[in-house]
Amino acid sequence: MTRETLAAELTKLLQNNQRETNGYHYTLPSPELYPFQWLWDSCFHAVMYNALGNHEAAKAELTSACTLPLESGLLPHIIYWERPQNGEQWGREERSDALDAAWGVQDCSAITQPPLIARVVLETFEATGDTDWARTLLPTLIEYFEGLAVNRVFEDTGLLMLINPDESGEDNSPRFDELLNLPPQHSKHDHLDKRIELLHRYVECDFREIGCMDDIFAVVDVAFNAIYLDGLRAIKTLTEHINGSVATKTFTNRLEHVEAHFHAFFAPMGWNSYDVVHKKPIEVATWNRFMPLYTGAVSKTEAADLVAKLNDTDTFAGTYGLRTTAANEPSYDPEDGFWRGPVWASPHWFIARGLRQYGYDTEADALRDQLVTLIETSGWREQYHPDTGTGQGASNFTWSGLALDLYN
Ligand code: GLC
Repeated sequence: MTRETLAAELTKLLQNNQRETNGYHYTLPSPELYPFQWLWDSCFHAVMYNALGNHEAAKAELTSACTLPLESGLLPHIIYWERPQNGEQWGREERSDALDAAWGVQDCSAITQPPLIARVVLETFEATGDTDWARTLLPTLIEYFEGLAVNRVFEDTGLLMLINPDESGEDNSPRFDELLNLPPQHSKHDHLDKRIELLHRYVECDFREIGCMDDIFAVVDVAFNAIYLDGLRAIKTLTEHINGSVATKTFTNRLEHVEAHFHAFFAPMGWNSYDVVHKKPIEVATWNRFMPLYTGAVSKTEAADLVAKLNDTDTFAGTYGLRTTAANEPSYDPEDGFWRGPVWASPHWFIARGLRQYGYDTEADALRDQLVTLIETSGWREQYHPDTGTGQGASNFTWSGLALDLYN
């Protein structure tokens, strides 16, 4: 498939998935399975719209994602623009109690997703020079990043805690199993039960993370923090363009602090995440170990080491793409494991962007080309089997379109 064909097919798919409610435009990740707006999905969509040169759609998508900030300033991971009728099932969850729990609050969820939005707003601003648009969103972004820094900070590191697996965007990643008290093999139903229970605990905590959720479920997650670190850079640049020097100074200081701690905290743990409740590194091998590349905060030697690991066929390198969980983990399930082995597009995209920063263009191109091959072989699917390329999960799912952004 040429770049042009990919662009044409992606345009069709995005048009098919686009919705409008109350004048807000947003794109469904998959109309059949995911009938709402998700925060990091919207960031991916904006990246795709920008790659297609459709910056108006990118702006609309991001504006829409910013409409319902939580009291803490955090942006919710789902906005329920149009709720299914009472009792109707929705999405993969197939359980209306997930929706009834409303993930904590009305009209949107009470939890967030990785803070990619600052980076994508910056890129959209740089592509359009639309200062008015960026000025409108900036206060919401500042509140979001303030809310994260105040409510989610882990001790004096400046790094953040997530308080529900869904906040990582990798709902059932095995790196959360131990904290959820689940064995490496369990049913999806049991997993969802645990996550719903966590939402209830969050409500009982009165949405307080420090001093409440951090005794129940809290992870200093390497991917979440990699995206946060890069997001701090982006928001600092945005404030330089748009706001006064006060916010710039705050974000410059915060960025320096987080930059210093990111490496010092995660490198000694082999780029693993940290379980705050049990006070120990989480040693399950997931694709997250490659996310430090995305921050640009690793040395050339460390980058070379990560690249070698990326190519290891016994662990991460599948025939068709990067396994989300290493093949030698007891939790590995390439058939139907969701985040427990199958290939997803977003890891390819994050890592490819990271690789380019270190001059590994061949490897970055290979990650892109694998996505394109998967679209050719199996269509627009949510995940793919790493060794057969078979599509899994949602259909008409958008994320593989991130490949388009990886052409230079
Ligand atoms: C699944 C994914 C999550 C995504 C959502 C909507 O829950 O794990 O990352 O945001 O679907 O696509």
